[in-house]
Amino acid sequence: MKIRFVAADGDSVREVEAAAGERLLDIAQADGQPLEGTCEGQMACSTCHVIVSEEDFGKLPVASADEDDLLDLAAHVTRTSRLACQIWLEEEWGSLTVRIPSEARDMQGR
Ligand code: FES
Repeated sequence: MKIRFVAADGDSVREVEAAAGERLLDIAQADGQPLEGTCEGQMACSTCHVIVSEEDFGKLPVASADEDDLLDLAAHVTRTSRLACQIWLEEEWGSLTVRIPSEARDMQGR
């Protein structure tokens, strides 16, 4: 399946191939996207925040309460914000488009 990463400025788009079962954060990092993922998926940092496209957001399983709590702390959160470390790709989605927030920053200041 195809994953599209839209840069924070909205101009450049990278399209990469990924397989179902892979984690979005791993794909983003392998592609060199600026997502720190400081806590490596422990849901303790929010530096893996991405903004899912409106069209794709509904395909994703809903966020857990813990993920929602953490997103509240992230900068530039939108209605379709998610944590990339909590998204495992599913074949049925076909493709997924996410935007990198303009300020990917660790709220703990590390
Ligand atoms: Fe820390 Fe996702 S990598 S919350």
